[in-house]
Amino acid sequence: MKDTKDHGAAAAKYSAAVITVSDKGAAGLREDTGGPLVCAMLGEAGFAVVYTSLVPDEGAGIEAELRRCADEKDAALIMTTGGTGFSPRDVTPEATIAVCERLTPGIPEAMRAESLKVTNRAMLSRLAAGIRGRSLIINLPGSPKAIRENLAAVLPALEHGLDMLRGGPADCAAEQAPPEQKLSGQKQK
Ligand code: MTE
Repeated sequence: MKDTKDHGAAAAKYSAAVITVSDKGAAGLREDTGGPLVCAMLGEAGFAVVYTSLVPDEGAGIEAELRRCADEKDAALIMTTGGTGFSPRDVTPEATIAVCERLTPGIPEAMRAESLKVTNRAMLSRLAAGIRGRSLIINLPGSPKAIRENLAAVLPALEHGLDMLRGGPADCAAEQAPPEQKLSGQKQK
């Protein structure tokens, strides 16, 4: 676990925390490439990544990390990577749902819809997303390729969601993104 000022401009509008969930990573048996990739993508999108951690696939530990990031660190955006598949140890979505007060199903729906254009294995992703207090929590898969594809699908819409969550009433109509920015930079059909 570490607080970090490595990623994100000083003028970043929102803070972010990144939690890697991996038994092998936490045991030092595998280098964590997913967490740094999420940090880099969030930094490029204008978020200040203020906290990162690496935890094993244990529900109670994941829940504690999510609570810490929301309640103590007050991170506007909390992203997890890993533990969203079918293996018996994959419990990140359950831990996320347990700590969230309101779910945000549109975010996983958008990620799976975009990902299914790339691979039918996207249907195997159980990732979840939701709100705890003033924090938006979003799960990502573990592989760098899947991280890139899933995060790109939702990044452009997150700032508006956080404006509503943190900044009071936001005007959806006035702030509607042009069509080409709505989904992962792809033109609408
Ligand atoms: N989504 C995208 N966009 N690209 C991918 O390659 N891989 C899938 C799925 N989502 C994939 C994807 C696979 S194979 C699995 S098992 C699930 O994500 C869960 O991944 P995780 O166990 O690493 O969390």
